[in-house]
Amino acid sequence: MEKQRDLLFFCLVLACSSSFLPWVSSSSAEGGPEKAPPKLLFVFGDSYADTGNTEELSVAWVPPYGSTFPGEPSGRFSDGLVLTDYVASYFGIESPHPYRLRNHVNKTVLQHGMNFAYGGTGVFDTMAKEPNMTTQIDFFQSSVEQNVYTKHDLSSSVALVSLAGNDYAAFAMKKGKPEELPSFIASVIDQLIHNLKRIRGLGVGKIMVTALGPLGCLPQLTAVSSFKNCSSKWDSIARLHNLKLRQSLQELKTNESITGSSCLSSSSSALTVLDLDSAFISAFDMLRHRSGELSENPLKPCCVGMTAGYSCGSVGDKGVKNYVVCDHPETSFFWDNIHPSQYGWRAVYSFLGSSLHHLL
Ligand SMILES: *[C@@H]1O[C@H](CO)[C@@H](O)[C@H](O)[C@H]1NC(C)=O
Ligand SMILES: *[C@@H]1O[C@H](CO)[C@@H](O)[C@H](O)[C@H]1NC(C)=O
Ligand SMILES: *[C@@H]1O[C@H](CO)[C@@H](O)[C@H](O)[C@H]1NC(C)=O
Ligand SMILES: *[C@@H]1O[C@H](CO)[C@@H](O)[C@H](O)[C@H]1NC(C)=O
Repeated sequence: MEKQRDLLFFCLVLACSSSFLPWVSSSSAEGGPEKAPPKLLFVFGDSYADTGNTEELSVAWVPPYGSTFPGEPSGRFSDGLVLTDYVASYFGIESPHPYRLRNHVNKTVLQHGMNFAYGGTGVFDTMAKEPNMTTQIDFFQSSVEQNVYTKHDLSSSVALVSLAGNDYAAFAMKKGKPEELPSFIASVIDQLIHNLKRIRGLGVGKIMVTALGPLGCLPQLTAVSSFKNCSSKWDSIARLHNLKLRQSLQELKTNESITGSSCLSSSSSALTVLDLDSAFISAFDMLRHRSGELSENPLKPCCVGMTAGYSCGSVGDKGVKNYVVCDHPETSFFWDNIHPSQYGWRAVYSFLGSSLHHLL
Protein backbone atom coordinates (compact mmCIF):
# COMPACT_ATOMS: atom_id res chain seq x y z
CA MET A 1 0.00 0.00 0.00
CA GLU A 2 2.68 2.42 1.07
CA LYS A 3 4.73 1.48 -2.00
CA GLN A 4 1.86 2.06 -4.32
CA ARG A 5 1.37 5.52 -2.96
CA ASP A 6 5.01 6.34 -3.31
CA LEU A 7 4.94 5.45 -6.97
CA LEU A 8 2.54 8.29 -7.43
CA PHE A 9 4.90 10.71 -5.83
CA PHE A 10 5.63 12.32 -9.11
CA CYS A 11 2.13 13.03 -10.24
CA LEU A 12 1.74 16.36 -11.86
CA VAL A 13 -0.04 18.96 -14.07
CA LEU A 14 0.11 22.63 -15.20
CA ALA A 15 0.26 25.70 -17.49
CA CYS A 16 0.98 29.41 -18.27
CA SER A 17 2.99 31.17 -20.89
CA SER A 18 1.87 33.91 -23.05
CA SER A 19 2.65 32.47 -26.43
CA PHE A 20 -0.43 32.27 -28.50
CA LEU A 21 -0.24 30.41 -31.73
CA PRO A 22 -3.28 30.42 -33.93
CA TRP A 23 -3.53 27.12 -35.78
CA VAL A 24 -5.06 28.87 -38.69
CA SER A 25 -3.55 31.22 -41.21
CA SER A 26 -4.13 34.83 -40.29
CA SER A 27 -6.58 35.36 -43.13
CA SER A 28 -9.04 32.85 -41.77
CA ALA A 29 -8.39 33.86 -38.18
CA GLU A 30 -9.51 37.38 -38.79
CA GLY A 31 -13.19 37.89 -38.86
CA GLY A 32 -13.72 34.21 -38.06
CA PRO A 33 -17.25 33.50 -36.96
CA GLU A 34 -16.46 31.75 -33.68
CA LYS A 35 -15.91 34.34 -31.02
CA ALA A 36 -18.06 32.71 -28.41
CA PRO A 37 -16.33 31.34 -25.32
CA PRO A 38 -15.95 27.56 -25.22
CA LYS A 39 -18.83 25.64 -23.65
CA LEU A 40 -17.21 22.26 -23.01
CA LEU A 41 -13.87 21.33 -21.52
CA PHE A 42 -11.98 18.11 -22.22
CA VAL A 43 -8.96 17.41 -20.04
CA PHE A 44 -5.97 15.12 -20.65
CA GLY A 45 -2.80 14.54 -18.69
CA ASP A 46 -1.67 14.00 -15.14
CA SER A 47 -2.19 14.93 -11.50
CA TYR A 48 -2.13 18.67 -12.09
CA ALA A 49 -5.38 18.14 -13.98
CA ASP A 50 -6.90 14.96 -12.53
CA THR A 51 -10.09 15.53 -10.53
CA GLY A 52 -10.88 11.92 -9.60
CA ASN A 53 -9.72 9.41 -12.21
CA THR A 54 -7.03 7.63 -10.23
CA GLU A 55 -8.24 4.60 -8.35
CA GLU A 56 -8.93 4.66 -4.65
CA LEU A 57 -5.44 3.44 -3.75
CA SER A 58 -3.82 6.73 -4.72
CA VAL A 59 -3.00 9.41 -2.14
CA ALA A 60 -5.54 11.68 -3.77
CA TRP A 61 -8.19 9.53 -2.10
CA VAL A 62 -6.83 9.63 1.44
CA PRO A 63 -6.85 12.38 4.08
CA PRO A 64 -5.59 15.05 4.38
CA TYR A 65 -6.06 15.44 0.59
CA GLY A 66 -9.19 17.48 -0.06
CA SER A 67 -9.23 18.96 3.46
CA THR A 68 -9.71 22.54 2.24
CA PHE A 69 -12.13 21.57 -0.53
CA PRO A 70 -14.47 19.72 -0.58
CA GLY A 71 -13.55 18.78 3.02
CA GLU A 72 -12.72 15.15 2.24
CA PRO A 73 -10.56 13.39 -0.36
CA SER A 74 -11.98 13.91 -3.85
CA GLY A 75 -9.33 12.37 -6.08
CA ARG A 76 -7.53 15.69 -6.48
CA PHE A 77 -3.80 15.82 -5.72
CA SER A 78 -4.16 18.86 -3.51
CA ASP A 79 -5.86 20.08 -0.36
CA GLY A 80 -8.49 21.58 -2.64
CA LEU A 81 -9.00 22.78 -6.19
CA VAL A 82 -6.50 22.12 -8.96
CA LEU A 83 -5.63 23.68 -12.30
CA THR A 84 -8.58 22.11 -14.13
CA ASP A 85 -11.07 23.67 -11.74
CA TYR A 86 -9.63 27.16 -12.19
CA VAL A 87 -9.40 26.86 -15.97
CA ALA A 88 -13.02 25.66 -16.11
CA SER A 89 -14.14 28.57 -13.96
CA TYR A 90 -12.36 31.00 -16.27
CA PHE A 91 -14.60 29.85 -19.12
CA GLY A 92 -17.67 29.72 -16.91
CA ILE A 93 -17.86 25.94 -17.35
CA GLU A 94 -18.42 23.49 -14.51
CA SER A 95 -15.31 21.45 -13.80
CA PRO A 96 -15.78 18.43 -16.07
CA HIS A 97 -16.64 15.07 -14.59
CA PRO A 98 -13.95 12.39 -14.25
CA TYR A 99 -14.13 9.83 -17.05
CA ARG A 100 -13.76 6.87 -14.68
CA LEU A 101 -16.97 7.82 -12.87
CA ARG A 102 -18.99 8.56 -16.02
CA ASN A 103 -21.37 5.62 -15.55
CA HIS A 104 -22.29 6.64 -12.04
CA VAL A 105 -23.87 9.93 -12.91
CA ASN A 106 -26.83 11.47 -14.60
CA LYS A 107 -25.58 11.89 -18.19
CA THR A 108 -26.47 15.56 -18.15
CA VAL A 109 -23.35 16.25 -16.08
CA LEU A 110 -21.28 15.11 -19.06
CA GLN A 111 -22.53 18.03 -21.10
CA HIS A 112 -19.75 20.22 -19.68
CA GLY A 113 -17.13 17.87 -21.11
CA MET A 114 -15.07 15.16 -19.45
CA ASN A 115 -11.81 14.87 -17.59
CA PHE A 116 -9.57 12.06 -18.89
CA ALA A 117 -6.46 13.03 -16.86
CA TYR A 118 -4.87 10.42 -14.59
CA GLY A 119 -2.36 11.33 -11.87
CA GLY A 120 1.13 9.95 -12.37
CA THR A 121 0.92 9.55 -16.13
CA GLY A 122 2.85 10.93 -19.08
CA VAL A 123 2.80 10.71 -22.86
CA PHE A 124 4.69 7.42 -22.44
CA ASP A 125 4.21 4.78 -19.80
CA THR A 126 5.55 5.93 -16.43
CA MET A 127 5.87 4.35 -12.99
CA ALA A 128 2.11 4.70 -12.58
CA LYS A 129 -0.11 1.99 -14.01
CA GLU A 130 -2.81 4.45 -15.06
CA PRO A 131 -3.64 5.10 -18.73
CA ASN A 132 -1.05 7.13 -20.63
CA MET A 133 -2.11 10.12 -22.71
CA THR A 134 -2.57 8.02 -25.86
CA THR A 135 -5.03 5.78 -24.02
CA GLN A 136 -6.78 8.82 -22.54
CA ILE A 137 -7.30 10.13 -26.07
CA ASP A 138 -8.58 6.66 -27.06
CA PHE A 139 -11.21 7.02 -24.31
CA PHE A 140 -12.15 10.42 -25.69
CA GLN A 141 -12.31 9.04 -29.22
CA SER A 142 -14.71 6.28 -28.21
CA SER A 143 -16.94 8.83 -26.47
CA VAL A 144 -16.99 10.80 -29.70
CA GLU A 145 -17.69 7.65 -31.74
CA GLN A 146 -20.53 6.76 -29.41
CA ASN A 147 -22.01 10.19 -30.09
CA VAL A 148 -21.80 11.33 -26.50
CA TYR A 149 -20.78 14.64 -28.10
CA THR A 150 -22.08 16.16 -31.31
CA LYS A 151 -19.93 17.94 -33.90
CA HIS A 152 -21.39 21.18 -32.67
CA ASP A 153 -20.47 20.35 -29.06
CA LEU A 154 -16.93 19.60 -30.15
CA SER A 155 -16.54 22.78 -32.14
CA SER A 156 -17.43 24.81 -29.07
CA SER A 157 -15.07 22.86 -26.85
CA VAL A 158 -11.61 23.51 -25.52
CA ALA A 159 -9.03 20.96 -24.36
CA LEU A 160 -6.61 21.30 -21.47
CA VAL A 161 -3.54 19.10 -21.90
CA SER A 162 -1.31 18.85 -18.87
CA LEU A 163 2.14 17.33 -19.08
CA ALA A 164 3.94 18.07 -15.85
CA GLY A 165 7.01 15.85 -15.98
CA ASN A 166 6.18 12.24 -15.10
CA ASP A 167 7.92 11.04 -18.26
CA TYR A 168 11.15 12.58 -16.95
CA ALA A 169 10.64 11.18 -13.46
CA ALA A 170 10.23 7.73 -15.03
CA PHE A 171 13.34 8.30 -17.14
CA ALA A 172 15.31 9.13 -13.99
CA MET A 173 13.92 6.18 -12.03
CA LYS A 174 14.78 3.80 -14.86
CA LYS A 175 18.31 5.19 -14.66
CA GLY A 176 18.28 6.79 -18.09
CA LYS A 177 21.72 8.08 -19.09
CA PRO A 178 22.24 11.86 -19.12
CA GLU A 179 23.53 11.71 -22.70
CA GLU A 180 20.25 10.13 -23.77
CA LEU A 181 18.20 12.91 -22.26
CA PRO A 182 18.12 15.32 -25.23
CA SER A 183 16.79 12.63 -27.55
CA PHE A 184 14.32 11.50 -24.91
CA ILE A 185 13.03 15.07 -24.56
CA ALA A 186 12.67 15.22 -28.35
CA SER A 187 10.64 12.01 -28.33
CA VAL A 188 8.38 13.32 -25.54
CA ILE A 189 7.70 16.47 -27.57
CA ASP A 190 7.07 14.51 -30.78
CA GLN A 191 4.58 12.31 -28.99
CA LEU A 192 2.92 15.33 -27.36
CA ILE A 193 2.56 17.11 -30.71
CA HIS A 194 1.13 13.94 -32.21
CA ASN A 195 -1.39 13.82 -29.34
CA LEU A 196 -2.40 17.46 -29.83
CA LYS A 197 -2.99 16.84 -33.53
CA ARG A 198 -5.14 13.84 -32.67
CA ILE A 199 -7.27 15.82 -30.22
CA ARG A 200 -7.74 18.51 -32.81
CA GLY A 201 -8.50 15.89 -35.45
CA LEU A 202 -11.38 14.68 -33.30
CA GLY A 203 -12.94 18.11 -33.67
CA VAL A 204 -11.88 20.05 -30.58
CA GLY A 205 -11.73 23.72 -31.48
CA LYS A 206 -9.11 25.04 -29.12
CA ILE A 207 -6.30 23.53 -27.09
CA MET A 208 -4.28 24.68 -24.10
CA VAL A 209 -1.09 22.76 -23.42
CA THR A 210 1.03 23.27 -20.37
CA ALA A 211 4.70 24.09 -20.47
CA LEU A 212 6.67 22.41 -17.69
CA GLY A 213 6.93 24.28 -14.42
CA PRO A 214 10.30 24.74 -12.72
CA LEU A 215 10.79 21.03 -11.96
CA GLY A 216 13.93 21.69 -9.91
CA CYS A 217 11.92 23.80 -7.46
CA LEU A 218 9.50 21.01 -6.51
CA PRO A 219 9.85 20.18 -2.80
CA GLN A 220 10.81 16.64 -3.81
CA LEU A 221 14.03 18.09 -5.19
CA THR A 222 14.62 21.02 -2.84
CA ALA A 223 14.19 18.96 0.34
CA VAL A 224 17.94 18.25 0.43
CA SER A 225 18.61 21.99 0.83
CA SER A 226 15.80 22.53 3.36
CA PHE A 227 13.66 23.78 0.46
CA LYS A 228 16.10 26.58 -0.37
CA ASN A 229 17.87 25.65 -3.59
CA CYS A 230 16.19 24.60 -6.80
CA SER A 231 17.91 21.78 -8.69
CA SER A 232 19.56 23.30 -11.74
CA LYS A 233 19.70 19.89 -13.42
CA TRP A 234 15.92 19.49 -13.31
CA ASP A 235 15.30 23.13 -14.14
CA SER A 236 17.38 22.74 -17.28
CA ILE A 237 15.39 19.66 -18.33
CA ALA A 238 12.25 21.76 -18.02
CA ARG A 239 13.75 24.63 -19.98
CA LEU A 240 14.86 22.37 -22.82
CA HIS A 241 11.45 20.70 -22.94
CA ASN A 242 9.70 24.07 -23.05
CA LEU A 243 12.01 25.38 -25.75
CA LYS A 244 11.41 22.32 -27.92
CA LEU A 245 7.67 22.52 -27.31
CA ARG A 246 7.53 26.10 -28.56
CA GLN A 247 9.75 25.31 -31.53
CA SER A 248 7.59 22.38 -32.57
CA LEU A 249 4.38 24.35 -32.24
CA GLN A 250 5.87 27.12 -34.34
CA GLU A 251 6.95 24.56 -36.93
CA LEU A 252 3.48 23.07 -36.97
CA LYS A 253 1.99 26.48 -37.56
CA THR A 254 4.43 27.18 -40.37
CA ASN A 255 3.78 23.77 -41.95
CA GLU A 256 0.08 24.37 -41.89
CA SER A 257 0.20 27.85 -43.31
CA ILE A 258 2.31 26.46 -46.20
CA THR A 259 0.01 23.57 -46.96
CA GLY A 260 -3.11 25.55 -46.18
CA SER A 261 -4.45 22.49 -44.43
CA SER A 262 -5.76 24.53 -41.56
CA CYS A 263 -8.17 26.30 -43.90
CA LEU A 264 -10.15 23.09 -43.88
CA SER A 265 -11.19 23.88 -40.38
CA SER A 266 -13.71 26.64 -40.24
CA SER A 267 -13.45 27.56 -36.59
CA SER A 268 -10.78 29.81 -35.14
CA SER A 269 -8.80 26.81 -33.95
CA ALA A 270 -6.12 27.92 -31.60
CA LEU A 271 -3.39 26.58 -29.41
CA THR A 272 -2.19 28.33 -26.31
CA VAL A 273 0.76 27.33 -24.21
CA LEU A 274 0.00 27.71 -20.52
CA ASP A 275 3.36 28.75 -19.22
CA LEU A 276 3.49 27.20 -15.79
CA ASP A 277 7.14 28.05 -15.61
CA SER A 278 6.64 31.80 -15.44
CA ALA A 279 3.45 31.43 -13.43
CA PHE A 280 5.14 29.37 -10.71
CA ILE A 281 8.11 31.76 -10.60
CA SER A 282 5.81 34.79 -10.42
CA ALA A 283 3.86 33.13 -7.64
CA PHE A 284 7.07 32.39 -5.68
CA ASP A 285 8.11 36.03 -6.05
CA MET A 286 4.72 37.22 -4.94
CA LEU A 287 4.88 35.04 -1.83
CA ARG A 288 8.42 36.13 -1.02
CA HIS A 289 7.29 39.74 -0.98
CA ARG A 290 4.24 39.07 1.10
CA SER A 291 4.18 41.13 4.24
CA GLY A 292 4.70 40.21 7.86
CA GLU A 293 4.70 36.84 9.51
CA LEU A 294 3.37 35.14 6.40
CA SER A 295 6.55 35.66 4.40
CA GLU A 296 7.85 32.17 4.82
CA ASN A 297 9.90 30.26 2.31
CA PRO A 298 7.51 29.75 -0.64
CA LEU A 299 9.21 26.48 -1.65
CA LYS A 300 8.35 24.75 1.60
CA PRO A 301 5.44 22.30 1.29
CA CYS A 302 2.53 22.19 3.72
CA CYS A 303 2.09 18.45 4.13
CA VAL A 304 5.13 16.22 4.55
CA GLY A 305 6.06 12.78 5.84
CA MET A 306 7.48 12.65 9.38
CA THR A 307 10.64 10.97 8.15
CA ALA A 308 12.20 10.10 4.84
CA GLY A 309 10.21 6.91 4.22
CA TYR A 310 6.85 8.65 4.57
CA SER A 311 4.94 11.22 2.59
CA CYS A 312 1.79 13.29 2.91
CA GLY A 313 -1.12 10.93 3.59
CA SER A 314 1.03 8.05 4.89
CA VAL A 315 -0.74 6.16 7.64
CA GLY A 316 0.75 3.37 9.73
CA ASP A 317 -0.77 0.57 11.80
CA LYS A 318 -3.92 1.54 13.68
CA GLY A 319 -4.26 4.67 11.60
CA VAL A 320 -1.26 6.44 13.09
CA LYS A 321 -0.47 9.48 10.95
CA ASN A 322 3.05 9.47 9.62
CA TYR A 323 2.77 12.95 8.20
CA VAL A 324 2.36 16.51 9.40
CA VAL A 325 0.26 19.31 7.98
CA CYS A 326 1.24 22.97 8.31
CA ASP A 327 -0.88 25.40 10.33
CA HIS A 328 -1.82 27.54 7.33
CA PRO A 329 -2.44 25.54 4.16
CA GLU A 330 -4.30 28.58 2.89
CA THR A 331 -1.02 30.46 2.49
CA SER A 332 1.30 27.66 1.42
CA PHE A 333 2.13 27.39 -2.30
CA PHE A 334 2.97 23.69 -2.29
CA TRP A 335 0.64 21.18 -0.72
CA ASP A 336 2.86 18.08 -0.86
CA ASN A 337 6.26 17.28 -2.33
CA ILE A 338 5.03 17.63 -5.90
CA HIS A 339 1.74 19.47 -6.04
CA PRO A 340 0.59 23.03 -5.45
CA SER A 341 -2.09 23.62 -2.86
CA GLN A 342 -5.40 25.18 -3.77
CA TYR A 343 -3.85 28.50 -2.75
CA GLY A 344 -0.88 27.76 -5.00
CA TRP A 345 -3.09 26.94 -7.98
CA ARG A 346 -5.11 30.08 -7.46
CA ALA A 347 -1.90 32.12 -7.48
CA VAL A 348 -0.70 30.33 -10.64
CA TYR A 349 -4.06 30.86 -12.27
CA SER A 350 -3.88 34.58 -11.54
CA PHE A 351 -0.77 34.70 -13.74
CA LEU A 352 -2.30 32.69 -16.58
CA GLY A 353 -5.06 35.10 -17.45
CA SER A 354 -3.49 36.59 -20.55
CA SER A 355 -2.91 33.17 -22.15
CA LEU A 356 -6.43 32.05 -21.35
CA HIS A 357 -7.82 35.28 -22.73
CA HIS A 358 -6.63 34.29 -26.20
CA LEU A 359 -9.02 31.36 -26.17
CA LEU A 360 -12.13 33.42 -25.58
C1 LIG B 1 -30.78 14.36 -14.96
O1 LIG B 1 -30.66 15.72 -14.57
C2 LIG B 1 -31.57 16.58 -15.27
C3 LIG B 1 -31.23 18.03 -14.93
O2 LIG B 1 -30.84 18.17 -13.61
C4 LIG B 1 -32.98 16.20 -14.89
O3 LIG B 1 -33.92 17.02 -15.55
C5 LIG B 1 -33.22 14.74 -15.29
O4 LIG B 1 -34.49 14.33 -14.86
C6 LIG B 1 -32.16 13.84 -14.65
N1 LIG B 1 -32.31 12.49 -15.21
C7 LIG B 1 -32.29 11.40 -14.46
C8 LIG B 1 -32.40 10.09 -15.18
O5 LIG B 1 -32.17 11.44 -13.24
C1 LIG C 1 0.09 3.72 -23.97
O1 LIG C 1 -0.47 2.60 -23.34
C2 LIG C 1 -0.90 1.59 -24.25
C3 LIG C 1 -1.68 0.57 -23.45
O2 LIG C 1 -0.93 0.13 -22.37
C4 LIG C 1 0.32 1.02 -24.95
O3 LIG C 1 -0.06 -0.01 -25.84
C5 LIG C 1 0.99 2.14 -25.73
O4 LIG C 1 2.18 1.67 -26.33
C6 LIG C 1 1.29 3.33 -24.83
N1 LIG C 1 1.63 4.46 -25.68
C7 LIG C 1 2.78 5.13 -25.59
C8 LIG C 1 2.97 6.24 -26.53
O5 LIG C 1 3.61 4.86 -24.74
C1 LIG D 1 22.39 26.63 -1.87
O1 LIG D 1 22.88 27.60 -2.80
C2 LIG D 1 23.78 28.51 -2.21
C3 LIG D 1 24.08 29.61 -3.20
O2 LIG D 1 24.40 29.04 -4.48
C4 LIG D 1 25.03 27.76 -1.75
O3 LIG D 1 25.94 28.64 -1.16
C5 LIG D 1 24.60 26.70 -0.73
O4 LIG D 1 25.70 25.90 -0.39
C6 LIG D 1 23.51 25.80 -1.31
N1 LIG D 1 23.01 24.95 -0.23
C7 LIG D 1 22.85 23.66 -0.36
C8 LIG D 1 22.37 22.93 0.86
O5 LIG D 1 23.07 23.04 -1.39
C1 LIG E 1 6.59 19.95 -40.56
O1 LIG E 1 6.81 19.41 -41.84
C2 LIG E 1 8.01 18.65 -41.95
C3 LIG E 1 8.21 18.29 -43.43
O2 LIG E 1 7.05 17.68 -43.93
C4 LIG E 1 7.89 17.43 -41.06
O3 LIG E 1 9.07 16.65 -41.12
C5 LIG E 1 7.70 17.90 -39.62
O4 LIG E 1 7.50 16.80 -38.76
C6 LIG E 1 6.50 18.82 -39.52
N1 LIG E 1 6.46 19.37 -38.18
C7 LIG E 1 5.40 19.35 -37.40
C8 LIG E 1 5.56 19.91 -36.04
O5 LIG E 1 4.32 18.89 -37.76
